[in-house]
Amino acid sequence: MTTLLNDTMPAGGRKGGTGETLAIRGGRPLSGRVEVKGAKNLVTKAMVASLLGDTASILHDVPVISDVAVVRSLLEVHGVRVDDGHDQGTLVLDPRDVESAHMEEIDAHAGASRIPILFCGPLLHRLGEAFIPDLGGCRIGDRPIDFHLDALRKFGAVVEKLPSGIRLSAPRGLHGANITLPYPSVGATEQVLLTAVRARGVTELKGAAIEPEIMDLIAVLQKMGAIISYEPNRVLLIEGVDKLSGYEHRAIFDRNEAASWASAALATGGEIFVGGAKQQEMLTFLNVVRKVGGDFDIREDGILFRRGGDLRAVTVETDVHPGFMTDWQQPLIVALTQATGESIVHETVYENRFGFTDALVKMGADITVHPQGLQDGLRRVPRRSLEQAAIITGPTKLTAADITVPDLRGGYSHVIAALTARGESTVRNVGIISRGYEKFFDKLDSLGADFDIVG
Ligand code: EPZ
Repeated sequence: MTTLLNDTMPAGGRKGGTGETLAIRGGRPLSGRVEVKGAKNLVTKAMVASLLGDTASILHDVPVISDVAVVRSLLEVHGVRVDDGHDQGTLVLDPRDVESAHMEEIDAHAGASRIPILFCGPLLHRLGEAFIPDLGGCRIGDRPIDFHLDALRKFGAVVEKLPSGIRLSAPRGLHGANITLPYPSVGATEQVLLTAVRARGVTELKGAAIEPEIMDLIAVLQKMGAIISYEPNRVLLIEGVDKLSGYEHRAIFDRNEAASWASAALATGGEIFVGGAKQQEMLTFLNVVRKVGGDFDIREDGILFRRGGDLRAVTVETDVHPGFMTDWQQPLIVALTQATGESIVHETVYENRFGFTDALVKMGADITVHPQGLQDGLRRVPRRSLEQAAIITGPTKLTAADITVPDLRGGYSHVIAALTARGESTVRNVGIISRGYEKFFDKLDSLGADFDIVG
């Protein structure tokens, strides 16, 4: 388990342990200003894209989070030279000496990350082979990689299953392909983009994900020399080119982190200015904030979120972009425990993403999870068989508890729930939060959270 690598705490000597366990005294509104940097879900992919260039790339606004550290070490294992730039948050990635790495080495550096799967296309182009160890990531469902492997086969890759993972090779190089994704998977779309840009011929991808982070990855690839057009109805056309160069790019802001702090303001009744947040990429989230009775003020340099008055129940359905992101529902649900009435959250992206609510129930929340989704009148038009729903009845007073963080977004919610609850909670396994939230303890501290690091 990674400890919090990115904090400068302590203010007031609070850092008493490894950063895995917090004692949190709740009941105080969180108020103040936090800055969000580049999106984890773009930055890590843009770092992988640097493998495709024949010169160095420069990436700005890189957050200090452990997922970035994992990708950095995976790139280094493959011979990429990664240096910190002159400005804080800038990385220089030089792929001129790329080389193969052993499966065990990749495995040792990959940690819990799923990122190694995205190395396949670039490494097949550069070296003719790639290895993927058994993949980790947050435990929020099966998270298979079938879309990725099917797409790679269509490009001409040979996939070989080994006891410790998967070996891919491209004896005759990779060629363009016609690919239709069964679901607009973010990772599989990135896989196709990172592979098609250097494949011989044209690739047509139907059913592509169109998240803002994907559009930003397309911008990165275009800067490198790729030819990618975005057609109507989730179709991407990629014309393969022989050569790509390095890029210089400032990453899109992290809208997941922005939405998390917004929900923290709603849950605790505080007022948080999220520097770097932008309206366009958050339209769907902002609509929900308004419907739930929250208030926001869009400014040049960020968005101010506050609880407008009493919170009201809402119905929300997670979906692919431009829908309500699955990563936004966990912090929002903490706020919904404080809303009057019955809220419903339908989760349609992952099949197991309400596990974190057990801890909220332990703290006094009234939440019922329907693992098969809701039937009859309450059921939305079914789109995926893995749909589940949570009904949150509020408002309920949360009380302190001893809880253990299960995954990244669920973990953030646990901390916010503890900050909303009366009394002193113990929140364990918080190190995982550093996968996606930069300077998490510092930010909590600057917002006036009352906590100690006790283990
Ligand atoms: C990305 O995961 C993000 N991770 C996730 O963020 C995010 O929740 C998700 O996209 C949806 O927006 C990163 O970018 C690193 P998917 P990804 O492929 O790419 C199924 C966070 O907390 N599927 O769009 O892995 C899959 O099981 C994380 O920041 C297959 O069936 O998501 C899921 O049900 C968590 N076969 C659905 O598609 C496949 O081969 C969507 O997954 C691939 C996916």
